[in-house]
Amino acid sequence: MTLPLIAPSLLAADFANLQRELERVNQSEADYLHFDVMDGVFVPNISFGFPVLEVARRYCQKPLDVHLMITDPDRYVDAFAEGGASVIHVHYEACTHLHRTLTHIRQLGCRAGVALNPHTPVSGLEDVLEHIDVILIMSVNPGFGGQSFIPHTLQKVANLKQLLKANQSSALIEIDGGVGLNNAQALHSAGADILVAGSSVFGATDPVEAIRLLKQSGQP
Ligand code: DX5
Ligand code: ZN
Repeated sequence: MTLPLIAPSLLAADFANLQRELERVNQSEADYLHFDVMDGVFVPNISFGFPVLEVARRYCQKPLDVHLMITDPDRYVDAFAEGGASVIHVHYEACTHLHRTLTHIRQLGCRAGVALNPHTPVSGLEDVLEHIDVILIMSVNPGFGGQSFIPHTLQKVANLKQLLKANQSSALIEIDGGVGLNNAQALHSAGADILVAGSSVFGATDPVEAIRLLKQSGQP
């Protein structure tokens, strides 16, 4: 069985020591840096944007996995591509013309991701699957780090895996919210390829070791 890809979420990092935190991510087995953008409208919180992206691009050697929790993301995908994003996730609930948005993200040279809120069914993606590289399943209501994993999400990941198989889609499944050593293996076995982890990584005494353990936890 392949090991899960790990995407530590910068939201939980110590911003007083941002450069040190990014260097820790560089030293680790992380596969991406997850970058949460919140606009205070789509979600009830405001996080960070372009100045922090610039620092992440300068100091982080891992590909940037940008999660846009913003309304009308079309206004900003070009700027995030220009800012160095490898993957750009837009929210299904925030896109009126999802097909257009996804094809545009690919035209910009980035991988196209779609994020689903906990209440959004995976079946809504069926008609755009061929335009999606990564599906980000939210396992908490987006807006804050450190929340508890919503248990039903495990079944949702398994259902999505089935849907992808039935449609011969090679899209990856990413899971975000409340992920830690207690549920990483179950999530990976259910079909999650990429595990996003904020507080369980940056809240640990040794984030490099926490990332290593998360990766190993993918082994049955
Ligand atoms: C939540 C964000 C997550 C968050 C995860 O809205 O999208 O990426 O940083 O944090 P933890 O792992 O602490 O739940
Ligand atoms: Zn996120």
